[in-house]
Amino acid sequence: MVSRVGIVGDGVIGMAIALVAASRGISVTLFGDHTPGAASPASAGMLAPSVERSDGPGQAFSDAARAAWPRLLELVRVQGDPGFRLTQQGILQVALTEADADRLQRSLRGPDRWLGAAEARRAEPALQPNLVGAAHFMDDGLADVPSALASLERATLRHPLIARHRTPLRRLDACGAQLTLTDAAGADHEVDHGVLAAGVWSPTLEGLPRALPVTPLRGTLAAVGVPLLSVPVYGPDGHCYVLPREGGTVIGATADAVGFDATPGPSDLSTLQRTGSSILPALAAAPITQHWTGLRPMTPDRLPILGPDPALPALLYACGHSRNGFLQAALTAEVIADLLTGTDRADIGPFAVDRFIERLNT
Ligand code: GLY
Repeated sequence: MVSRVGIVGDGVIGMAIALVAASRGISVTLFGDHTPGAASPASAGMLAPSVERSDGPGQAFSDAARAAWPRLLELVRVQGDPGFRLTQQGILQVALTEADADRLQRSLRGPDRWLGAAEARRAEPALQPNLVGAAHFMDDGLADVPSALASLERATLRHPLIARHRTPLRRLDACGAQLTLTDAAGADHEVDHGVLAAGVWSPTLEGLPRALPVTPLRGTLAAVGVPLLSVPVYGPDGHCYVLPREGGTVIGATADAVGFDATPGPSDLSTLQRTGSSILPALAAAPITQHWTGLRPMTPDRLPILGPDPALPALLYACGHSRNGFLQAALTAEVIADLLTGTDRADIGPFAVDRFIERLNT
């Protein structure tokens, strides 16, 4: 049994790993101090593998990840926390042309349903009146990001096996079978395993055995103070979406590869208002009350990096979740906790770090 684990990164994935690992009796130190520009607080919280699709093993992982969220909710409640809003009432994806409708009808799976225009507008009266119809992806849903992060924060602070260390980590060194983690103040922390869950900053940890191809993709979202929806709705392209949050409506999201710049682009808000109002016309006249930006940690194949480094098995990767960090957080945490307790996870083979060939120092 592993006794000491250092988790690098305190976003949704780092906090979820800490909680799941601690629930299995593992002592954990969670390093990080909510870096500005991080993806987690900027996320929409869409649990939408039916819309944001992947190829092959990525799709199976995302489908399983959606089902892991109620288990994470249960774990925060075990810590005496009231929990967070997790809705699993399905999501809609609208078709604005006959071609969209053909494509979306072919994408329905299992319990999903096709709604004609009138039925879609009965379900969500604020939808575009000219829509052709909508796919209703019945098993998809939404994690409410502000309440989920607050709840995970409280639960990780409360758990007796989790220590929080607010000074970020700078460096990692192998020390026999163990690791030494050095923080930005120069203090060393000896651990049996390190878990790298630092989102877009994962490749910047000094001493990694290899270069990680994780790069930032900036996303801006905006909110209006008008409640227009009961369930999340995607546009036909699967990138623009609108969702209910805290008595208002959130519009997402832009996608720009501009490095580590986490300030919104000059046209981001007008882009969001335009794309959002193609789904919900009332958004054209609704003043934006809030906006925010985060950096998605993208990999070349859009799949996460999970599991041990072959050259340094004490180091486990849990990063590079690309556009699906919130969706995949709870299952990532279970996978990492399984690996830490010696349970094999053959299903994560496709996400191994050595699928990328780039190496540091070679
Ligand atoms: N998964 C939502 C986004 O990346 O904007």
